Amino acid sequence: MLADQIVGLQWGDEGKGKIVDLMAKDYDMVCRFAGGHNAGHTVVVEGVKYALHLIPSGVLNPNAINVIGNGVVLSPDNLIDKEMSQFENIEKRLFISDKAHLVLDYHALIDQAKEKLKGKNAIGTTGKGIGPAYADKISRVGHRVGELLDPGKLAGKIMEYFEQNRAIFDVYGIDTPDREALTKQLQGYKAKLEGMITNTTNLVQDALGENKRVLLEGAQGTMLDIDHGTYPYVTSSTTISAGACSGLGINPKQIGKVTGIAKAYCTRVGNGPFPSEDFGKEGDRLREKGHEFGTTTGRPRRCGWFDAVAAKEAVRVNGCDQLALMKLDVLDGFEQVKVCVAYEVDGKRVDYIPYDLEDAKPVYESFAGWEKVEGISEYEQLPQNAKNYISELEKLVGTKVGIISTSPDRKDTIVL
Ligand code: IMP
Repeated sequence: MLADQIVGLQWGDEGKGKIVDLMAKDYDMVCRFAGGHNAGHTVVVEGVKYALHLIPSGVLNPNAINVIGNGVVLSPDNLIDKEMSQFENIEKRLFISDKAHLVLDYHALIDQAKEKLKGKNAIGTTGKGIGPAYADKISRVGHRVGELLDPGKLAGKIMEYFEQNRAIFDVYGIDTPDREALTKQLQGYKAKLEGMITNTTNLVQDALGENKRVLLEGAQGTMLDIDHGTYPYVTSSTTISAGACSGLGINPKQIGKVTGIAKAYCTRVGNGPFPSEDFGKEGDRLREKGHEFGTTTGRPRRCGWFDAVAAKEAVRVNGCDQLALMKLDVLDGFEQVKVCVAYEVDGKRVDYIPYDLEDAKPVYESFAGWEKVEGISEYEQLPQNAKNYISELEKLVGTKVGIISTSPDRKDTIVL
């Protein structure tokens, strides 16, 4: 059996949560392969609101097994206090890779201190410690979830780490933890997580071998990918489809259908290039109508028009078989809907993402708007102009639109 995959094609917040939630009922296993609790989405099921950051969305399907793969960086605090507490008997349905790296208190403190020192050049991170945790992993000084099984030993290693890096911690104004308190904290994590820590590569491989249906849930978006995004204004992980291979221990031949998620317009949180950003009234209107405020940080999102150049590249890099076009209803009532179809760089028109997107100016094409698609769940009922917009996007990005979302509600979804 091949695993299906969901990936974001823009700068995150594309609405992956709704689609994974919609699809999760058909899968036996849902796996996260990258990122950490910088990701976030809220799902409402039967009037109850759930905030998910690290736990895969399959948790809302009582029959699905959920896997946090080795490519994820895991904050035990966030997982235990903010997420697991929302669910009963989660211990039986959630498994965590022993090879996933830990995000500990000091990672968040380093993240915040570094951002402060950068001043106006700050990346605008979520401040959760994601970058420093991945940096430790790559520098081979990180700590893995498997180490939680021996809290005393792990506390000793962390104290050593502080000793070796005291000069750096001084610059950031971070104190060395108290060893006893640290050991106690780690013992607490062990008590809560021990039963879930395992070799998840075997778990996923066995599931695929037994013809179970597996869904791979991406976090963030392609334009935030450490290699393919707008570096350095990116997150620190491989957010594209290939990240699932290293982040779970599956091979490229085991990935089946890839669904790329994109909003019908664009948003971005944090700093960095965003050529089709609209600084005027239309951008404000997208923000208000689309409730574009971060789930993790509450920050207002920057808003603008659909960037077909970035989306086309994202479709190719991820190998998308189809596009899920989200929040089409947010464009309801606009007289004209703009799409960025190329960039102007140094006076020349380019239809690919240049090395530096900072000075790229958008080249727009305008399409006639429509009155209302909100709440429509049949393709035939869409206004003709909305259908035209969808088919123009298909041509521009090079793949078909297979899913259209017309409101946050699960039922307001067109599946083609
Ligand atoms: P970090 O992942 O906290 O290091 O933040 C790096 C950049 O990625 C910042 O611009 C964040 O705003 C952005 N980012 C990280 N996670 C998400 C997400 O889930 N949605 C949208 N943007 C994100």
